[in-house]
Amino acid sequence: MENFESSKINPLEQGAGASRVFEGEMGLPVIEKIYGESAEFFAGEIKRLLPPRLEAYTMSVLDVGSHRGEFLKDLLTEFGDDYKFDVTAIDANETALKDNLAAKMKVVGNVAQLPFQDNAFDITVMRYVLPWNKKEDQKEILSEVNRVSNKYAIVQHSGAPRENSSEWQSEFHKLFLGHAPKLQRETAYFSSPTEIETWMDEKGINYQTIQDRVVPDISELFIAKYELSPEDAARVNEILADKDFVEQVAWVFEKKK
Ligand SMILES: C[S@@+](CC[C@H](N)C(=O)[O-])C[C@H]1O[C@@H](n2cnc3c(N)ncnc32)[C@H](O)[C@@H]1O
Repeated sequence: MENFESSKINPLEQGAGASRVFEGEMGLPVIEKIYGESAEFFAGEIKRLLPPRLEAYTMSVLDVGSHRGEFLKDLLTEFGDDYKFDVTAIDANETALKDNLAAKMKVVGNVAQLPFQDNAFDITVMRYVLPWNKKEDQKEILSEVNRVSNKYAIVQHSGAPRENSSEWQSEFHKLFLGHAPKLQRETAYFSSPTEIETWMDEKGINYQTIQDRVVPDISELFIAKYELSPEDAARVNEILADKDFVEQVAWVFEKKK
């Protein structure tokens, strides 16, 4: 496994902290509720964008923020023999990456500074990585995903709604500011799709929005996953109140040549 020492900076810790969401026995319901459909959804897009070729062809794929390959493993099982993949995974969390059996090549690093050449991958996928990074880093991550993609990238995100996003953020972010100690994070910023699209416009990314839906009842996921005490669970419910949802959005980036 390659390890890029130079990228051992703050964002790595933020990323690594995020991985707690996927750990332990309670990880599965969280993934099911928010992302139960996403392996099939991403696979459908890949098949639409890059239909199988008649001649033998191995498609290079990068999974950004791959963790233990939970998503990657499910994604790859969606394809038959008419597709061959050469998969690279990158994540800040070295321990999680060691358990990632879905990727052939594994790289420990900061996804805001991808250690790959321009156009290195036919397709780049990224699911649920942005919110654990500072706004400036989120912009860089999007730009980097676009830079290393030769043809397409597919990015899925959950965060603030398009409507009244700052109002939603000012409540939702309280979850991570110590009001419920088990949820405390150094960095959590649930950007809205509109913010992300503005950043992508600034970065000259050519994108299409391919999904935009509301996922309700997020509080119960936090409560179950972190086995919150009744007091903390009540606090989470009180904080989220009428903001107990996320907006889930996905984009395809098509690389301008
Ligand atoms: C919530 S998990 C999602 C894992 C996987 N993409 C999935 O959907 O199953 C977020 C992952 O992104 C990684 N991550 C977040 N920000 C990162 C950064 N700046 N650099 C490297 N990895 C990062 C975390 O370490 C974590 O493994």
